[in-house]
Amino acid sequence: MRGIAFLFYVVAILYVLAGMLFGIHMAGAHDFSLAPAHAHLNLVGWVTTGMFGIYYHVVPKAAEGMLPKIHFAVATPGVILMFPGIIMSIQGQGEALAIIGSLLTILSMLIFLFTVIRSRGTA
Ligand code: HEM
Repeated sequence: MRGIAFLFYVVAILYVLAGMLFGIHMAGAHDFSLAPAHAHLNLVGWVTTGMFGIYYHVVPKAAEGMLPKIHFAVATPGVILMFPGIIMSIQGQGEALAIIGSLLTILSMLIFLFTVIRSRGTA
């Protein structure tokens, strides 16, 4: 694995490490009110981002050009903003960050849809 595939995969592992530590913190504090933030960091961060990495690895043609880099540049702030955004939203501190993170995340998935369709039949 190399290039954009490797980048997506390493970042996904960093997300799940952070998500696991957050899970341990929740368990230790006996406070599960922020479980949705933990779930999204793990599922959008680790599972979804990891799947992007695996796809770019399995379909090398898809990893060529500028679009995968734009995809990474949109997906990464999406996850990073969504996590504190969900926490702030649960704690009644505003929803702006969660909305921005969500919009970037859906844009990232639309880019991925386009990428998958564009690279059909190449691997
Ligand atoms: C060290 C690893 C992990 C620890 C210590 C941990 C801990 C926790 C805790 C304490 C909760 C709250 C349970 C409750 O509300 O009763 C939770 C919920 C959850 N976790 Fe984890 N977790 C870990 C890894 C993961 C991973 C890898 C995923 C997904 C890939 C995941 C997905 C979820 C989901 C979907 C929920 C439910 C969230 C909700 O109810 O809103 N967790 N976890």
